[in-house]
Amino acid sequence: IRVGVVFGGKSGEHEVSIESAKSVIEALDRNKYDVMPIAIDKQGRWSAGERARRVLEGGWATLQAPRTNGNVVTEGNTGDDVFAGSVPEQGLQTGQPSVIPEHVMESIDVLFPVLHGSYGEDGTVQGMFELLNVPYVGAGVAASSVGMDKVLMKRMFAAVGLPQVDYVYCTRNEWETDPSMVTKNVETRLGYPCFVKPANLGSSVGISKVKSQAELRNAIDLAAKYDRKIIIEQGLNVREVEVAVLGNDAPKASVPGEVIPSNEFYDYRAKYLDGESTLMIPAPISDELTEEIRRLAIQAYKAIDCSGLARVDFFVEKDTQRVLINEINTMPGFTKFSMYPKLWEATGVAYSELIGKLLAYAIE
Ligand code: ADP
Ligand code: DAL
Ligand code: MG
Repeated sequence: IRVGVVFGGKSGEHEVSIESAKSVIEALDRNKYDVMPIAIDKQGRWSAGERARRVLEGGWATLQAPRTNGNVVTEGNTGDDVFAGSVPEQGLQTGQPSVIPEHVMESIDVLFPVLHGSYGEDGTVQGMFELLNVPYVGAGVAASSVGMDKVLMKRMFAAVGLPQVDYVYCTRNEWETDPSMVTKNVETRLGYPCFVKPANLGSSVGISKVKSQAELRNAIDLAAKYDRKIIIEQGLNVREVEVAVLGNDAPKASVPGEVIPSNEFYDYRAKYLDGESTLMIPAPISDELTEEIRRLAIQAYKAIDCSGLARVDFFVEKDTQRVLINEINTMPGFTKFSMYPKLWEATGVAYSELIGKLLAYAIE
């Protein structure tokens, strides 16, 4: 079976995608699968075969793995390279057309878009794959795009009664034309602290925790650099619990895991750069909470009509133990050290077996 592994891409999560793809390619069983690496650069240009392989080996990025249950993971990346210490500055690169590599696609049986963020996890490449008639791993067009857009996602979750934080949103245009209206809306409906986020991104790129009006202004300006839509949420004092979901029509949920971020919140640095965050697997929470969160994860998966895989992330409010859904990620981080594969490992599905299952779900 010829598997095209697509990675990189135009989003602010380009580097993370390369790290995820490295792990996926390494784990693909060569007795069963013939691997074709397909790289997309930051301008959106595609390349396959040798050039793509060089991108993987050269490592445009080397990110730092989190710890698992308090043990420092020593093998793997060191993080002391050109990207360490720097957060991607701009999310979306424009101006260069994407090239559809038709000749490449013809020889491929199944695609694995290990792409995070816009132009990868948002239904755009999924739409292209549909048109090219090649099966692919993960969510389809609608689930991918709804899962990427935090405002649309929240509306779908609300429609099935999933509990979530209070939020408001505005467009870049509304912010530029009437900032005082947006500020008033935030202050009357949410107050401080609040979180300001680009509506379509991931890996915490462009996200700020805000404690005052002055910070709010800077945070919205920053988020507006990445997206034309900005979401602002009430900032809660929370534990963060994540569940991995796998399957098509009868999806299964893994054991939940808890993230203990090294920073005030789980920002880009805490996720990939300082190696100081900890993943507690399984999450040290009660059996009741575990079952509730797993049930809500499946409900969220179905609410956006997801298929293949997703990681569903929750907040557990520290004071009240209230469970709120934060988001769904239709192509979660996929390095050997990432939460998604680690959760399945703890549930009894090893990394390479997991990839085999995903490829099988793609072609069933
Ligand atoms: P991304 O899609 O980039 O992962 P998230 O919405 O998950 O963005 O936010 C990133 C992180 O910011 C979360 O993991 C959490 O640490 C923190 N965070 C986000 N929203 C809130 C909130 N409303 N209250 C408390 N912490 C939050
Ligand atoms: N967006 C990153 C890759 C994640 O959700 O893990
Ligand atoms: Mg998140």
